Amino acid sequence: MKIILSLFLTASLGASSAYGWGADGHETVGFVAMSASFLAPKALSFVRSSLGCTYDESLGPAATWADEVRPEPAYAWSANLHFVDALDNAPTSCSVSQSRDCPDNQCILGAIANYTTRVADTHLSAVQRQEALKFLDHFIGDIAQPLHVENIAAGGNGIDAKCNGSSTNLHSVWDSGMINRLLPSKYNNSVTTWAAALVTRIKSGSYKCEASNWIACSSTTETVSKNHDSHVNHGIIPLECPLVWAKDSNMFGCSVVFNFTSGQDLCTSSYYDEAIPVIEMQIAKAGYRLAAWLNSIFDGATHLP
Ligand SMILES: *[C@@H]1O[C@H](CO)[C@@H](O)[C@H](O)[C@H]1NC(C)=O
Ligand SMILES: *[C@@H]1O[C@H](CO)[C@@H](O)[C@H](O)[C@H]1NC(C)=O
Ligand SMILES: *[C@@H]1O[C@H](CO)[C@@H](O)[C@H](O)[C@H]1NC(C)=O
Ligand SMILES: *[C@@H]1O[C@H](CO)[C@@H](O)[C@H](O)[C@H]1NC(C)=O
Ligand SMILES: [Zn+2]
Repeated sequence: MKIILSLFLTASLGASSAYGWGADGHETVGFVAMSASFLAPKALSFVRSSLGCTYDESLGPAATWADEVRPEPAYAWSANLHFVDALDNAPTSCSVSQSRDCPDNQCILGAIANYTTRVADTHLSAVQRQEALKFLDHFIGDIAQPLHVENIAAGGNGIDAKCNGSSTNLHSVWDSGMINRLLPSKYNNSVTTWAAALVTRIKSGSYKCEASNWIACSSTTETVSKNHDSHVNHGIIPLECPLVWAKDSNMFGCSVVFNFTSGQDLCTSSYYDEAIPVIEMQIAKAGYRLAAWLNSIFDGATHLP
């Protein structure tokens, strides 16, 4: 694997500054989950009534809310919930550890556990439960983005690139740069067209065989096993599935993500051609998982093949 290690050593930013898949990626995750026949009756009914006309009763438009409020002082506390800084040695060795990487639950792993409990908590207000739903809608997308589960160079924010004369970085290329190139070239620049294509692949196309594995972990109550040395912190008990999903995404840090020599390579067609199938699969996976997760919460099982 071609890597310039000095890139990583010089990049020592503090926290991640990027927001996760850009708006297009997040909306597509939501639209995949909304696809006809994915959501079971109670989940669908809650989603529609909770989101209401503000969000067209859809997880698509609601998926970006968490990024929109993130810069507001009132939501500053939520900034660290969009990622987990896995302290692994990518691209040589990849791993995510609950106790090492999220000991206080103040990361995306704790957040998904937190909002899984809160979305179903009938003691909370409708506004609080809607927020919980919007956070799940968003974080189940973020956790599928390999650079949201990687500490190196602040999730790639510190690895500079210049594409078409504009400054960008590795994280941003994955969040939106390559998606911005994909949408006009293959999907008529439309997230709903993209989502429909991904749903077809899940139901009857190239993802059909693996889709059941994507949602194999769908227990909304199974907690991280004791030997992971996790602690109840801030009243949150970490769940097994978010950790499984994080590890799944983090593995790409040991294959395609850091497979370049210099930042300029990130704009080449060869990098794009390796990365874009992963991006499409991760978006489809996140949407399918989101539907399965909400079905597990509200209808007691995934109700999906
Ligand atoms: C859990 O949710 C509450 C309400 O949004 C929030 O104040 C708290 O910071 C959350 N904690 C985590 C780790 O998600
Ligand atoms: C592509 O998008 C344009 C503008 O939104 C629309 O008018 C057109 O019908 C779309 N074409 C296809 C094939 O969906
Ligand atoms: C890394 O990039 C080279 C070409 O630059 C390609 O042949 C190889 O398949 C890539 N490996 C991965 C894991 O993407
Ligand atoms: C650069 O711009 C051209 C023309 O707008 C576009 O076709 C191409 O996809 C862009 N390349 C990248 C890496 O964004
Ligand atoms: Zn985010």
